[in-house]
Amino acid sequence: MDKKKILAVNELSKIYKGEGYKVEALKNISFKLELGEMIAVMGTSGSGKSTLLNILGALDEPTAGSIELNGNHTKEMFKEPHASLYRRDNIGFIFQSFHLLKDLSVEENIALPLILKGIHKDLITPKVNQVIKLVGLMNWRKHRPIQLSGGQQQRVAIARAIITAPPIILADEPTGNLDFNTSSEILNILVDMKEQLSQSIILVTHDANVATYADRVLFFHDGNIVDEYKCEANNDLENILEKFKLITERQTV
Ligand SMILES: Nc1ncnc2c1ncn2[C@@H]1O[C@H](COP(=O)(O)OP(=O)(O)OP(=O)(O)O)[C@@H](O)[C@H]1O
Ligand SMILES: [Mg+2]
Repeated sequence: MDKKKILAVNELSKIYKGEGYKVEALKNISFKLELGEMIAVMGTSGSGKSTLLNILGALDEPTAGSIELNGNHTKEMFKEPHASLYRRDNIGFIFQSFHLLKDLSVEENIALPLILKGIHKDLITPKVNQVIKLVGLMNWRKHRPIQLSGGQQQRVAIARAIITAPPIILADEPTGNLDFNTSSEILNILVDMKEQLSQSIILVTHDANVATYADRVLFFHDGNIVDEYKCEANNDLENILEKFKLITERQTV
């Protein structure tokens, strides 16, 4: 059965220009994301990974090229108010540094996207219960972020990102601040979510072990996609490390 394409990235370029500098952060990038697929984006520092996520989440505008969601694209999508609506309806963000609101409880942080969407409060509690169970934080719902460990805070951020059931999750180094075991827990939650909710995920990472959780890995170097790897569950870690090593060696040539 053919998998359904959810997102198509077409010849995307981004140039940052300012007084005395010009950086080509993305150079004509194209790829497709399928429904229920997790893509890991690996690349050296400065290769354009965060720039890509920012554009896919309409936080930034490309210099050229387009993104198509379910076959639709509009040039206006990067302009307000379209960009905010596109984000609200389609995208869940997870960042390395959690980005939780410190004065709100766990359940209030998680409910925030529904409140912003204007959902009636009677409908919010059952939704919060559902996602808070999924990330295993039922006993922590009244706590403040500062009272939680890093892994627990990231689980709050994941619950908040999925509560509106967005078709696409964009995660920038989501396990970058976590130890190995906690990272594995978080990645398993992302994999379960993808399988249970058919979500599609793009996950940026420096870590080859993290990339093994994905279905496919795209390797970035200097604003280009220079290689790709399909995970097979056999020797993935060795194969990804080998490809990544070739890319870091390019850097020094
Ligand atoms: N707002 C900006 N203004 C000017 N240049 C920028 C801006 N944001 C990023 N850049 C430049 O664009 C290039 C790509 O940056 P980007 O943040 O996408 O890299 P990255 O792959 O996410 O790196 P890292 O792994 O360090 O997070 C870099 O050379 C960076 O200096
Ligand atoms: Mg980055």
